[in-house]
Amino acid sequence: MSQIAHGAAREIVYVLDFGAQYSQLIARKVRECGVYCEILPFDTPTSGILAGKPKALIFSGGPASVYEQGSPACARDLLESGVPILGICYGHQLIAHLLGGEVRPGERKEYGRTELEVISDDRLFLGIAGRGASLACWMSHGDTVWQVPQGFVATAKTHDAPVAAMADPVRRIFGVQFHPEVVHTPFGKDLLRNFVIGQAGCQASWSIGSFIEAAVAGIRGRVGEGERVLLALSGGVDSSVCAALLCRALGHRLTCILVDHGFMRKGEAQRVVDVFRRSFDVDLVHVDAADRFLAKLEGISDPEEKRRRIGEEFIRVFEEHSEHLANVKYLAQGTLYPDVIESGGRVAATIKTHHNVGGLPDVMKLPLIEPLRDLFKDEVRRLGRGLGLPENIVGRHPFPGPGLAIRVIGEVTKAALDTLREADAIAIEEIRAADLYDSTAQAFVVLLPVRSVGVMGDQRTYANTAVLRVVTTEDFMTADWARLPYDLLARISNRIINEVPGINRVAYDISSKPPATVEWE
Ligand code: XMP
Repeated sequence: MSQIAHGAAREIVYVLDFGAQYSQLIARKVRECGVYCEILPFDTPTSGILAGKPKALIFSGGPASVYEQGSPACARDLLESGVPILGICYGHQLIAHLLGGEVRPGERKEYGRTELEVISDDRLFLGIAGRGASLACWMSHGDTVWQVPQGFVATAKTHDAPVAAMADPVRRIFGVQFHPEVVHTPFGKDLLRNFVIGQAGCQASWSIGSFIEAAVAGIRGRVGEGERVLLALSGGVDSSVCAALLCRALGHRLTCILVDHGFMRKGEAQRVVDVFRRSFDVDLVHVDAADRFLAKLEGISDPEEKRRRIGEEFIRVFEEHSEHLANVKYLAQGTLYPDVIESGGRVAATIKTHHNVGGLPDVMKLPLIEPLRDLFKDEVRRLGRGLGLPENIVGRHPFPGPGLAIRVIGEVTKAALDTLREADAIAIEEIRAADLYDSTAQAFVVLLPVRSVGVMGDQRTYANTAVLRVVTTEDFMTADWARLPYDLLARISNRIINEVPGINRVAYDISSKPPATVEWE
């Protein structure tokens, strides 16, 4: 449960998580319907769930089988609490099982796009389809409900699932075998809306504005009078939005430390400082530590060693500048939902040691405030706009913690950083001018320690190669290289070679991830 927004939201729907991959997606779709939604573990005691006064409950999917010993279940009394319930996939089977229906392994498992036939006019399908209509939905299940419990009617079926949806309109308990939360179920959001608004009577009044209000109240309720909160501000979207939100709640009781390691993009550190000092009046400590970081990287060209040293130095600098601050009781962090599910030994972590502020909580030993941990990136962007952050901060592409140090391949020197910064700024300027910044996920330049021969005017040149890397991706776990127009590539290449001394060749990276990664180091 979010420590922040809960309690202050006027209307709330809980998703009980039975181990689904898609619980957050359900919560997010409900929020898109204008109703605030959070996730709770399936074993939250009934009293704890009801204490939050939910307007509705959604039971998520999950990988287990309801008839197996020890499979996750909620207490039966939750089903008798009078709160409207929608079960999805495993949740659907659990409702059937707990109320005396029959669930058993399906004769054939259904995965992917499946044809659904509506067999009874039902309020969940209101405005979507009537009896006899056929709809495309997305399935992923092995078990099937064969018999509905008493009081229920089967409202939809598929070729292999006789009860693909069921309803008890009196108790307002519903179940669907398919996944309404994924885009492959085109009517899914309408069905969720029918449930939370049509059946549970929610008002559809939640918006980013109400999130801000709730989060501000939650933060104020948690941070006592006279207590301070510390935040490492990188200028990236997440830490910036987090800072803006905390600043709204706490004013000068928030201190942001911007550790400028000298590996930022051209003009970036100053832009962030200007925005936060001028528009937000934040208590901001800007630490120019470029020389220290550069010294730490002298003679180092191994990517992991670079990352390790930068991470270590970051913590050291942060500690030095926070030690003397009085009454600091919390560390704030812009952790998002995808960071929550990706933390804990994901494969990428062993491929590259990600440096961000992740190392701080261990050293600081302060309780964490993470007001964004239920949100997805695009929700955070909307939140940032709602808080008045400028587009050049909220719409920004992600930028790695170690910054340009992992884009200067090999040893990092001040000269190489300056060269890269110029080339990178040109590329971004041209991509923006071509109106392709927002439709690409990440764009940047990498500087190679490889020199090649060229000719400029009548002179021979022997200079470095810059690589342009532009990718499209949804989640950064996989990515494809962006098919940029040739004319744009030509403009970027010409400008870099003509305007940036030290570069006489530009290449375009046409590798996808996997097998390559987004960053070169
Ligand atoms: P890779 O190179 O692993 O990058 O395909 C995936 C995404 O993660 C970003 N990235 C980082 N972000 N600290 C960060 O905060 C890091 O150390 C780091 N390394 C890579 C990368 O820019 C891309 O968006």
